[in-house]
Parts: sequence; C-alpha cells; structure tokens
Amino acid sequence: MRLKICLKLILTIGLFYSCNEKLSAQELQKFKESAERGAIIYKDFCMVCHLPDGNGVSGVYPPLANSDYLKTKRAKSIKSIKYGLSGEIKVNGETYNSIMAPLGLTDKEIADVMNYITTSWGNKNTQMITEAEVSKIQPKD
Ligand code: HEC
Repeated sequence: MRLKICLKLILTIGLFYSCNEKLSAQELQKFKESAERGAIIYKDFCMVCHLPDGNGVSGVYPPLANSDYLKTKRAKSIKSIKYGLSGEIKVNGETYNSIMAPLGLTDKEIADVMNYITTSWGNKNTQMITEAEVSKIQPKD
C-alpha cells in the first residue's frame, strides 16, 4: 500500500517537472521569436536615434545598450515607448532633457521591441515582456 502511494508520488512529481521543463522551453522559444520581431521594429522605428549598436548619441539620444534606466525601470521604459517621454532623465550618469514622441506601436509591437532591446548589446533580461504587461501600463506609471 505504502509502495503504491510512493510510486504515485514519484510519478506525479516526475510528470510535474517534465511538464514544467517543456513549458519553459516553449516560453524560451516565444521569447526568442518576440525579440526577432522586435529587431525589425527597432530598425524601422528606433535605430535613427538610438543607433544600430544601441549606444545612442551622448547628450542627445540616450543609450539602450547597458542602460541603467532600461535595466532598472521596466515599467517606465515600456511607458516611454507607449506614450512618449520628455523632461529630465538620467541614463548611466548622464542627463538628458529632450523629447521622444510616442511611435504609434501596438502593445504587441512594444512587447516585441522591448524583448529585443532588453536582450541585445549585452543587455540580459530573462523575464519576457508580454502584450498583457504592456496593456496594463498607464500614462501615470
Ligand atoms: C526621434 C528620436 C528617437 C526615436 C525614433 C526613438 N527614441 Fe527613444 N529616446 C529618445 C530621446 C531623446 C529619449 C530621452 C527623452 C528625455 O530626455 O526625456 C529617449 C529615451 C528612450 C528610453 C529611456 C531611456 C534609456 O535610454 O533607457 C527608451 C527605453 C527608449 N527611448 C526606447 C526607444 C525605442 C524602443 C524606440 C523605438 C520604438 C525609440 N526609443 C525611438 C529619442 C528617440
């Protein structure tokens, strides 16, 4: 009797872990595909200012590569792409006081481009940004 319960337990745990692993591989694939779509959006909408290497132009267009702003202000970064950004900000110790207009992207496109810029040029985001996460971001965030 005990052996049966034990076996059942092992089976359940085994199944749980194998399902979990499958899910994370699927999630990883989704993350990769989103970032790939984001790369195309980046070229079309962002590269003119933030440049192909994500380094921007010191004092004029802030960097996205190794940007402490992008790294530590996830919601604010999403908000800046969704609603635009103006006024004084500090990125990697340098002050910017300019304007980025909203670019008219859909929530899904914003998630894609965020997944691209947060995993490029040495940036290391492991938490995929979803369309649902973007849709929750409000102008007051
Ligand atoms: C016309 C130039 C221009 C374009 C195009 C542009 N940006 Fe920006 N971006 C700026 C400026 C200028 C700022 C800083 C605004 C300020 O000083 O308040 C900024 C700030 C940012 C920030 C926050 C600061 C940082 O460096 O981490 C992020 C994130 C960002 N942009 C991402 C994007 C993405 C993604 C796109 C394309 C969808 C894009 N930008 C398109 C000019 C631009």
